[in-house]
Amino acid sequence: MHARPKAHPKMLTNAPDRSAPGRADAFVLFGATGDLAHKKLHPTLYRLAVEDRITLPVIGVARSSLSDAQFRSFAREAIRDRDGSASDEALDAVTGRLTYVSGNYMDPATYRQLRECLGEARHPLFYLAIPPSMFEPVIDELMRVGLHDGARVVVEKPFGRDLASARGLNASLHRAFDERSIYRIDHYLGKETIQNLLAFRFANAILEPIWDRRYISSVQVTMAESFGVEGRGAFYEEVGALRDVVQNHLLQVVAMLAMEPPVGTDADALRDEKVKVFRATASVDPGDLVRGQYVGYRDEAGVEPDSDVETFVALKLAIKSWRWAGVPFFVRAGKRLAATALEAVIEFREPPRLLFADPDTPVPHPNHLRLRLGGGHEGIELSLEAKAPGDTMATRPVPLAFRYGTEPGVQAESYERLLVDAIAGRQALFARQDGVEECWRIIEPALHAGKTAVPYRSRTWGPLEADRLIESEGAWHEPGDPLASTPASERALMDRADRHVRAEVDQASS
Ligand code: BG6
Repeated sequence: MHARPKAHPKMLTNAPDRSAPGRADAFVLFGATGDLAHKKLHPTLYRLAVEDRITLPVIGVARSSLSDAQFRSFAREAIRDRDGSASDEALDAVTGRLTYVSGNYMDPATYRQLRECLGEARHPLFYLAIPPSMFEPVIDELMRVGLHDGARVVVEKPFGRDLASARGLNASLHRAFDERSIYRIDHYLGKETIQNLLAFRFANAILEPIWDRRYISSVQVTMAESFGVEGRGAFYEEVGALRDVVQNHLLQVVAMLAMEPPVGTDADALRDEKVKVFRATASVDPGDLVRGQYVGYRDEAGVEPDSDVETFVALKLAIKSWRWAGVPFFVRAGKRLAATALEAVIEFREPPRLLFADPDTPVPHPNHLRLRLGGGHEGIELSLEAKAPGDTMATRPVPLAFRYGTEPGVQAESYERLLVDAIAGRQALFARQDGVEECWRIIEPALHAGKTAVPYRSRTWGPLEADRLIESEGAWHEPGDPLASTPASERALMDRADRHVRAEVDQASS
């Protein structure tokens, strides 16, 4: 009998990274009083500290002129905003260890003060939660006082605006840090459900033989948000959906779905396979692109009254590899849509001969696998055909479903995992330079396609053009509660009604 190999979902993340530079011994947060620090970083550092997962000193750097005590109050408030249950005792213990360096990022005195604060630390982690335009001056000053030596740097997305600027940014970082000391954050890579894509694909041998062009007809990835830009209008005007979530989050999901099994467990083995997928992916054909903008976006604070920035995008990708040639990958993302959900759907080919048909819906439902990655109902669902009870030999789709339910850890803040990994020197969950550049190369034609963003109404699934994009392969699977099964006939009627409403909406808004 064969011993059953142990599938360890965290294997890749926890594997010792032979190329890693070891543990960081201080955490320096640039932009320590900014929005990201307030919303994500202080609460995350707090949770890690109370759980004893990090013990290193934390130093904040920002322009605001604050004393250590005032900075600690800022951090306390940020933590309380996220975690109302944080006790005074725990807050005192954690924030009491914070120190603050106030100063201009261009002023060498700021860095001399920082060097003093760092004391004996030799491997600080510099987290740049500052606008990308400030990266270069900060790096220059760190180099001037020799603080880059033995250090590592964590940078937030968006990493550049296009291929040329991403290359420029990489060149700036590489003047001070080698690739093994650069951590490019994409918080999707820290999500439990996205990590599970690897476990699901490579811990189940039965999937591998069917995971290619012979059995799969198309793949869809949907990132839908029911809310709008929520006060981030000025930021969104600079990026739009393509730069905000497609170039990074969604192409990473595509790579996890399409990659070959990695040859080892170290960070580069995993990233090599993802980069191979990106390299095989053709740059987007503008004919396979739909841009949309929700009605009301132009009234948001910070948005130009005649803005053409897209809040919705749908596109078709072609991965030109032996595994995927001829299998379209459809990707869509949008704000103010009908639901909040992150899903990937793998659609399988139809049987070569159809012996059974559902009299209500003569077109068969192809088998499909729905990977519910976010937005609630997280889990995996396989839709199969089974005989509909009754006298006729007709079939209906039935789900085989796994739900995470309320399992702890599923909704865990991905920043926790990413910060722990960056501190420990594990790079598997961070984007590598060649991958980032390939992703820009893939979407570059979409950035300059000169296609107007089509208006769409809130709480719809975006412009009708997005449905046309996928028409030759079927239709988008709309996210919803997987187990609330609706009879096929009813579903078909609902689909028709829904399309009718959307057509009207499109006409009204054009
Ligand atoms: C961010 C984008 O990177 O991801 C936001 O800037 C988006 O626009 C967010 O809303 C979505 O993240 P999540 O984890 O809620 O899916």
